[in-house]
Amino acid sequence: MGEINVLINKVKLEKRIEEMARQIQKDYEGKEVVLVGILKGSVMFMSELAKNIKSSVALDFMDVSSYDGKESTGTIKINKDIRDSIEGKDVIIVEDIIDTGRTLTHIKEYLKQKNPNSIKIATMLSKPSRRVMELEVEYIGFAIEDKFIVGYGLDYNEKYRNLPYIGYIE
Ligand code: IMP
Ligand code: MG
Repeated sequence: MGEINVLINKVKLEKRIEEMARQIQKDYEGKEVVLVGILKGSVMFMSELAKNIKSSVALDFMDVSSYDGKESTGTIKINKDIRDSIEGKDVIIVEDIIDTGRTLTHIKEYLKQKNPNSIKIATMLSKPSRRVMELEVEYIGFAIEDKFIVGYGLDYNEKYRNLPYIGYIE
């Protein structure tokens, strides 16, 4: 793997996240929102998004892994579940990137069983050309081409999560 190229710089990225936060604030006025971040990739996005939502939000996290790797239709394994009840709450799942859509399809189905009032999805990045599952995604930061992305939470073998911008590896 070669060097890292900048795809979306910090200023542009954080400006977009601020816009997303404003939209969420508007859409959920007067509601109790729970942001559920999917570990580990979503942490930087979750933090930036939450800081820019001026109304009160609750934060929770889940950690999942896919059972059978990327290309299977296999379900997910929950390594860490959310801590608090979401019954009757308005939930937004916060994800770093949606690729095939399998992970979030499973997570959304799983969280629905906990009887929230609503569930929507906010993702920093989306690769629409890679989608194999039909998944409604309400908030998308940037739709991007099929490149391998690192930075701002995203890793390659646990490296590069701390880069303050979105990069890609050639
Ligand atoms: P999906 O189930 O195929 O949508 O996969 C989504 C998950 O795969 C994300 O939460 C990421 O953890 C990982 N992923 C997908 N594309 C990339 C990438 O370009 N860089 C790093 N991780 C990725
Ligand atoms: Mg992830």
